[in-house]
Amino acid sequence: MNKINLPQAAKLTSPNPVSLVCTQKPDGSTNLATVSWWTYLSFNPNMIGYAMAKTSYSGEMVRNNKKVILTIPGTEIAEAVMGCGSTTGRDTDKVAQFGIELTEVEGSDIKIPVHSRVAIVCSMKEYHEVGDHYLYICDVEQVYGNEVEEALFAWNGYSQVRPAK
Ligand SMILES: Cc1cc2nc3c(=O)[nH]c(=O)nc-3n(C[C@H](O)[C@H](O)[C@H](O)COP(=O)(O)O)c2cc1C
Repeated sequence: MNKINLPQAAKLTSPNPVSLVCTQKPDGSTNLATVSWWTYLSFNPNMIGYAMAKTSYSGEMVRNNKKVILTIPGTEIAEAVMGCGSTTGRDTDKVAQFGIELTEVEGSDIKIPVHSRVAIVCSMKEYHEVGDHYLYICDVEQVYGNEVEEALFAWNGYSQVRPAK
């Protein structure tokens, strides 16, 4: 084996997961950010975790109101998913800019993209500093699924999103 660095390892592990972290802005609208670094943590109780750069606007939102929905986006919104990963909700209305159609989720104030394969409604339990990121540990409140939507994955590190097949 050759000695490589961690970003190079992320390329070798492609395809990697892709999610859209959906949070609520102070005006009630939804912010969407593309996040590959998420994982299931526990099935009893149901818990997930994800890591976001300390500077992310989504992090600010979830640290404020503790509410977040993690969705697995469908292939129909691939371009928007790349857009949500290269702009910040601090100065961009991503939903309008990328023409993302949203739908309501029972029991939550946060809306999510219509084209979602899975939606995991969470309450943020705690967060920890991990280098240049925060790791958000969340209790799962509800889970929704739609098999018709084909999931997106990140390829070649994080430079492209497309299905795993
Ligand atoms: C495919 C892809 C995967 C990404 N994964 C992550 C991730 O796991 N964690 C992270 O902090 N940023 C990740 N990003 C970058 C964020 O989406 C980006 O910093 C975004 O601007 C944050 O938006 P916000 O400031 O509205 O929260 C990813 C971007 C792309 C395109």
